[in-house]
Amino acid sequence: MARHFLTGEELTTGELQGLIERAIELKEDRLRSRALEGLSVALVFDKPSTRTRVSFETGVFELGGRALVLREGELQLSRGESPRDTALVLSRMVHAIAIRTGPHETVEELADYSDIPVINMLTRDHHPCQALADLVTLRERFGRLEGLKLAYVGDGNNVARSLLIASRLAGVELAIATPPELGLPELASIPLDEAVRGAHAIYTDVWVSMGDEEDAEGKRELLAPYRLDEDLLSKARDDAIALHCLPAHPGEEISEGVLYGERSAVWDQAENRLHAQKALLELLISSLPER
Ligand code: CP
Repeated sequence: MARHFLTGEELTTGELQGLIERAIELKEDRLRSRALEGLSVALVFDKPSTRTRVSFETGVFELGGRALVLREGELQLSRGESPRDTALVLSRMVHAIAIRTGPHETVEELADYSDIPVINMLTRDHHPCQALADLVTLRERFGRLEGLKLAYVGDGNNVARSLLIASRLAGVELAIATPPELGLPELASIPLDEAVRGAHAIYTDVWVSMGDEEDAEGKRELLAPYRLDEDLLSKARDDAIALHCLPAHPGEEISEGVLYGERSAVWDQAENRLHAQKALLELLISSLPER
């Protein structure tokens, strides 16, 4: 049966550790794997993307495969064809489907009816590929994951949820500080100072995510005290790094000085999308019985 990657919970701790080490190997020698030789991967984008789009398309190419990029409006899915029928058809033509869309139920239905791996490239609820790259970045910077403390500050969104799942698997302590109105139901928020004290990394994300533009001003007001700036970073460990999944809004959720400063690991984090996803594609494609 094909393996999917919808939330990150599909991986065991051992698999996640192996995937992170493999990503680091692939970073050192980008063309060492031809795991997708002769295979095609459909990349479905219902929403805009820079990092995810470019890293997946490049990653499939570097693994020897062919990426079919399908933008909003190019599939009958956008005209009401069901995820079920889409999965049944694509399963007969390509070897994996990666999708960025709004409702998480869409990727679940695709996976339920797909004979090939389905990868979640972001839904309203989860962003698991981002969390893989985040762990690769922490592992690179600190040489380990077990026992690290990661502070997430800001909006309790899909990125926070995926970090929570990935951190638990990896043995990373995640401390979340969000306004009460914007918290994650899965993990209680703690005061900001407590969250960042002793942290190896402070992570933030945009205050107004894609599709959340309705109460943008209200959210900005609630989130203003949670800005990742020099003052907040100084309350973490001396060697703490700043993380942001991008795109950033300097002056809102992160100061310009932190984003472009010496302690920013943001650009490594963005690059690591490529290496982490190649390792993921290798793992998932190996679940296909015949290729
Ligand atoms: N972090 C992230 O998913 O970036 P994109 O929206 O540019 O893909």
